[in-house]
Amino acid sequence: MNVKDVLKKHNQQHLLPYLENLQGEELDAFVKQVEQVDWNVVEQWKHPEDLSGRGRVQPISGLTLEQIRRNGATYRKVGEQALKSGKVGAVLLAGGQGTRLGFDAPKGAYDVGISHPIFIFERLLNNLSEVCSQCKCYVPLFVMTSVVNNDDTQKFLAQHNYFGYPKEYIRFFVQDITPVVDLDGKLMLESKSRLAFSPNGNGGWYASLVKANVLSDFPSVEWLNVFSVDNVLQRIADPVFVGATLQSGANCGAKVVRKCDPYEKVGVLCLEDGVASVIEYYEMTEEMANQRDDDGNLAYSFGVILNYLFNVNKLQQTAGKRIPLHVVKKKVPVLQPDGSLFKPQTENAYKFETLVVDMVRLMETCLPFEVAREREFAPVKNKTGVDSVESARELLKFNGVTL
Ligand code: UD1
Repeated sequence: MNVKDVLKKHNQQHLLPYLENLQGEELDAFVKQVEQVDWNVVEQWKHPEDLSGRGRVQPISGLTLEQIRRNGATYRKVGEQALKSGKVGAVLLAGGQGTRLGFDAPKGAYDVGISHPIFIFERLLNNLSEVCSQCKCYVPLFVMTSVVNNDDTQKFLAQHNYFGYPKEYIRFFVQDITPVVDLDGKLMLESKSRLAFSPNGNGGWYASLVKANVLSDFPSVEWLNVFSVDNVLQRIADPVFVGATLQSGANCGAKVVRKCDPYEKVGVLCLEDGVASVIEYYEMTEEMANQRDDDGNLAYSFGVILNYLFNVNKLQQTAGKRIPLHVVKKKVPVLQPDGSLFKPQTENAYKFETLVVDMVRLMETCLPFEVAREREFAPVKNKTGVDSVESARELLKFNGVTL
C-alpha cells in the first residue's frame, strides 16, 4: 500500500497536503516515519485511561529497617558474592528531560552544586563507584537514553570521563518512540516534514535493552538493578538489597520509603489480586490513601523510590506479555502554517507510555525493602519546594556532601 493510502486508511488525510509538498530526502524520511507508526498504539487514543479497573488491593508485608539492620551482615555477604560473580547489572533510566526544572537538557547533566559543580550523573556514578570499590569489582551499567537526549547524554558523560567509571563497563541504549496525536487522534507534526514522536515511557526499558542487544556483552548478569536518574542519594547495586532479594526467593525487589503523608507523590507497593503491584499516587482512592492499620499507621505506606531489582530469567519469560499502555494528556507544540511552533496553554495531545511500575505485577512476587528516606531518597523533580533542587541539597549536606 502506498503512503497516501496508508494515511487515508487510518484517517490521517490532514497530512496529505504536507506530503504533496515534499520531495527527495525529505519525502523519503517522511515516508519512513509513517512506516514506523504503530497503528495499534495510535488507536488507543480512543481509550483514555480508566483508572477504576484495578483489582482487589491489599497491603503487602516487607522487610523493615529493623529487620534489615538485624540481618544486614548476611544479606551483604550474599549480595557481595553476587556482585563479584558478575550476576548484577544496573540500568539507569535517563530518557527523561529536565523540563520541570526549566532545564532543556538531560536531567543527569543538571548541576546541583553551589560553590563547585556537582552534576546529577556525577552523584550517581560516584555512588556506584563506592560500591564497586567496597566489593572490588565493577558492575555493568546500561544507560537508557531517548532520541531527544541520546547525543547530549553521551557527549556529556564522555566530556566528564564518565566521572571515573570505566567506560568498558558502560553501554548506552535508546528507548523506543511512539507517535503523538491530537485529541481527535490525528498525528501531529513537529515540522512541515516531520511527524511528532515522543519517548515511550520508562516501562519500555527492557524491550529496548533487548533490541539493542547489549546485555549479551555481559552474559553472567542474572539480575538488573533499575533506577531513576533524578535521585541524588540513589544507592545502586546495594549489596544488602541484592542479598535480601536473592535470599527472599522473590522475582523482584523494590526499595521503599515509609510515606511521609497519605498524599505524597510516590507509587505504593501492595498486593493486587494476590500478586505484587504498584499503584501510582494518582490512581489511589481517598480511602486507600488514608487507610490505617491496627497501630494507626498508614496501611499503604511503602512508597517506591524507583529502585528495583529484576530477575532476568523472569523478565525473559514475561517479555511477550503486554504491559498497559497509558494514554497521557500533554501540552504539545502545534505546527503553524508559517512553520513555527505554538506552545499551547492547555493539554492538547495524547502521548502513549508504558511505565516501569507495571512490570512489578508481571514479576508476581516482589520484596519491599525499606530504606531510610534521609539517606537514600532525594529526588530532584522541581526547582523549589517538595522534591526539589533545594530539598536535595539539604539532604546531600545531611549526608556529608560538600556543596
Ligand atoms: C517515578 C515513579 C514513581 C515513584 C517516583 C519516585 C514511574 C512510572 N513512576 O515517578 O512510582 O514513586 O518516581 O521518585 O516509574 N524516564 C525515562 N523515559 C521516559 C520517561 C521517564 O527514562 O520516557 C525516566 C526518567 O528519566 C526518570 C524516571 O524514568 O529517571 C522517572 O520518570 P518520571 O516520569 O519523572 O516519574 P515520576 O513521576 O517521578
